[in-house]
Amino acid sequence: MLHDLVDLGRYPIDRPNSRAYGEMINELRKELEQDGCAVLPGFVHNSGVALLRQEADAVARKAHRSYSRTNAYFTKDDPQYGIGHPIRRFYDRSDAFVPADNFPGTGPLRRIYEYEGFLPFVREALNEPEDRFFRYDDPLADVIINVVEEGQGFPWHFDTNNYTVTLAIQNGEAGGAFEYVPNLRDCGNENFDQVASVLDGNMSRVRQLELGPGDLQIFKGRYSLHRVAPVTGARSRYVGIFSFVEAEGMCGGVERTRQLYGRVLQHHHDREGRREDALLD
Ligand SMILES: [Fe+2]
Repeated sequence: MLHDLVDLGRYPIDRPNSRAYGEMINELRKELEQDGCAVLPGFVHNSGVALLRQEADAVARKAHRSYSRTNAYFTKDDPQYGIGHPIRRFYDRSDAFVPADNFPGTGPLRRIYEYEGFLPFVREALNEPEDRFFRYDDPLADVIINVVEEGQGFPWHFDTNNYTVTLAIQNGEAGGAFEYVPNLRDCGNENFDQVASVLDGNMSRVRQLELGPGDLQIFKGRYSLHRVAPVTGARSRYVGIFSFVEAEGMCGGVERTRQLYGRVLQHHHDREGRREDALLD
């Protein structure tokens, strides 16, 4: 059971047949349809957060840091567009992830991820069919912690995957706000002018979220431009990332895994060539 971690009174993921559960799912679906983002404040209660923070502190030094320069689309530069076009604007990005094999099944982070009611709850909130929703089959990446240190954040981007599920564990001393522009593009329209305007600093459509420790966020970032503002102060920001994918047995590719985690396992070599990446963003 998860009573020592999750506020099951407020979020009854252990009682999927209850009326309260149905109401919770309806509310989350409404939020996700409206602006692609749902937050469950205090999903993990205070004493649960203390356990998660302890676990994160113990393994934070095992985070692997990687650097890249990227545009909002994670694509290469394309000179057919003029200077200043969103596709041609590149930003420094630095990622630090504690690989998933640092989180044992008895620890708090993986206990939430592997709890029998957690996947069905996230899947139903996202309104995804059962045959298109699985845990990530990647022993280095299925459940990880992102460590953000002073001066770091994520520049503006659209996600390449459909959804991300994150749990705030510890905030930096300041900064680190999550900023997003709901539905800035859709399948038929990239809306480059508006994207450029946001990249230029126009904040009129930008929503800001200050997530607190214990808050669970479900975010559909494919159509909503978003970023994490730089963190300031000596304390690191910790965010747990739970990965779900649309096909059973999906696992990260060898090259990308080495880039993000600094090593690969035999599992990744075995799966190479018969997988798609589930990108983290
Ligand atoms: Fe993202």
